[in-house]
Amino acid sequence: MVYGNGYGENNCITNEDLRNGLRMGLKMVKAIIDPLSLADRSRAYAETFPTWPAPRTDSRWIDGIWVLGNNYQSTTGYYGSYPPTYLRRIHAMFPDVQLCNILHACSGSLNNVHPCVTLDINPTLQPDVVGNVHCLPFSDGSFHMVIADPPYSSTDAEQYGYPMINRRLMIREAARVTRRNGFLAWLDVQLPMFRKSEWHWFGAIGIVRSTNHRIRLLSLFQRI
Ligand SMILES: C[S@@+](CC[C@H](N)C(=O)[O-])C[C@H]1O[C@@H](n2cnc3c(N)ncnc32)[C@H](O)[C@@H]1O
Repeated sequence: MVYGNGYGENNCITNEDLRNGLRMGLKMVKAIIDPLSLADRSRAYAETFPTWPAPRTDSRWIDGIWVLGNNYQSTTGYYGSYPPTYLRRIHAMFPDVQLCNILHACSGSLNNVHPCVTLDINPTLQPDVVGNVHCLPFSDGSFHMVIADPPYSSTDAEQYGYPMINRRLMIREAARVTRRNGFLAWLDVQLPMFRKSEWHWFGAIGIVRSTNHRIRLLSLFQRI
């Protein structure tokens, strides 16, 4: 069977994939019974990517640097699209979050990432939902995780043809649609301002693509 995983690759399902699927299913069951610690997340990442450095952790904090490189075969060519392996690395750290409970906010060129939900303001990108991150068309607590990739500046926003987003409004809306103890993975060139009554900031990963690319920060939050 051939399927597109939406992350710029077109793979056949192999026995290894099935084994990984089974492992992930078992991890999800374990996580429901016994929530994952940050050390568990780092271990889950290391199991998926054994040759890359795992994030460092202590009981309250996780951090690292991901050097992602370029992959000219899998790039969508969309301005600001995710670097190769970025989403796979996030999923590896969050094996307890089912894909169908993830909202990609400012999803850009992401398509065919079903069962995740994609949302973008630009209808020509054909997201699952055309909408504005300032006023998300979902009820409270709809998602276990929001993966956000807003434009980083007014100059960036011009590339997309829409006004620069208001980070404060976006992160508040993300809080509203994320269920208690759910997660937010926010990629940006700055740490967005957040309310401590809504989010617990528990991790930061530096994202290096390659020469002449901006260095970004993946900030990880948990919903209070
Ligand atoms: C950095 S790009 C996301 C790229 C995406 N990560 C990818 O891999 O293709 C930012 C996206 O935010 C969208 N956007 C801009 N303003 C928005 C708003 N107010 N609400 C929803 N989406 C918005 C743009 O259309 C653009 O696709």
